[in-house]
Amino acid sequence: MKIGIDKMAFATTDEYIDLRELARERGDEPDKYTIGIGQDRQAVVPPTQDIVTLGATAAKKLLSEDDKKHLSTVIVATESGIDNSKASAIYIKHLLELDDFTRAVELKEACYSATAGIQFAKGLVAMNPQSTVLVIAADIARYGLKTPGEVTQGAGAVAMLISADPHILALEDTTVSYTKDVMDFWRPLYATEAHVDGKYSTNVYIDFFLQCWQRYQQMTGRQLDDFAALTFHLPFTKMGKKALEALLKDNQSPVANKLREQLTASQKYCREVGNLYTGSLYLGVMSLLQNGQVNPGDRIGLFSYGSGAEGEFYSGILQPHFEKYLSDVKDDLANRHQVSIAEYEKQFNSQLGMNPDDVELDWQSDPAPFILKGQKEHKRIYQEKK
Ligand code: CAA
Repeated sequence: MKIGIDKMAFATTDEYIDLRELARERGDEPDKYTIGIGQDRQAVVPPTQDIVTLGATAAKKLLSEDDKKHLSTVIVATESGIDNSKASAIYIKHLLELDDFTRAVELKEACYSATAGIQFAKGLVAMNPQSTVLVIAADIARYGLKTPGEVTQGAGAVAMLISADPHILALEDTTVSYTKDVMDFWRPLYATEAHVDGKYSTNVYIDFFLQCWQRYQQMTGRQLDDFAALTFHLPFTKMGKKALEALLKDNQSPVANKLREQLTASQKYCREVGNLYTGSLYLGVMSLLQNGQVNPGDRIGLFSYGSGAEGEFYSGILQPHFEKYLSDVKDDLANRHQVSIAEYEKQFNSQLGMNPDDVELDWQSDPAPFILKGQKEHKRIYQEKK
């Protein structure tokens, strides 16, 4: 039985900054950001958006009324959760008006956990092929103003429906996970911004990719020419390039150059939005499918990485008419508006974060379908704008 990704949809905020402007403001060369890091724009998060609103917006785009009837489980993968106890999946389940006889849970392992969610979902569908699972990867990447990580922030959510006989990507059985206790990036309970050992984290990422790839090759006997494309977790687009080049080295064969071209296609959306943490790999897959040279029957490789650290390499086969089952990301990105660096800094400092007070946010001007209205008696208040 084929099991895999049946539909995919993306959501981000409607505001962004131009990273050339940020570079000038921070006293850096714009080329460092656009070429050295490989990012052009970055999503700005108004205080009325968080992982619940972004996740619900992405999921609403793909769920038909018929889909809702088959849904057994909602899994939200995130490392920017809004509560240390209650799962964000429950808020999203409520906002989407899903049946009460639905399981809802949140998963955490840095940027990796959406992949765990997909693998767990595959198991649930195998047990009951009539049922489907909604996996939502939603995050807000926050490093702090004027830090080296600032240029690698971003925000958004990718929702994926996992089912039997999927329309987009049928997952193959071989998958390699690799885990070690590493302090490359973490966020203590008392912090709203990540702690990171930046250069070290890029080296750990590359090491985990090579470990997973070598084991996958030993297990399957597959070579580079068995793949139409390799996709990567993209904390910033240069990271994917570093990983692919660590594998290809000076290989200039047609196969290697094709993989380089496909990587560029998979990086297009990340350049515009920034790091989505758990969702980055999957936005990269959407970017490849909407901008790359891919056809039904092609094998796609996926490398997932989460600091701390865990990596996984797995693969899937593209299905006929896959392009019909993806939301229109280009349209979303074209409809955003640019804000100044001063406005971005103001919004960065206006998040609810650790503030325990009652807060009423100015939510009327936020055009998103789901908004965070504020907080009362330590409870976040969400609403769908109808
Ligand atoms: N023109 C072109 N390129 C330039 C340039 C210029 N004028 N000036 C600098 N550069 C290049 C540098 O040569 C460098 O390129 P290489 O990496 O290829 O050598 C690149 O720009 C970055 O320059 P620096 O190394 O000086 O940058 P930095 O010290 O400011 O830090 C960073 C970069 C470590 C990525 C930092 O942004 C960071 O800490 N980011 C967050 C951590 C991160 O994303 N880690 C990724 C792996 S962990 C992970 O994947 C999980 C996750 O999502 C967090």
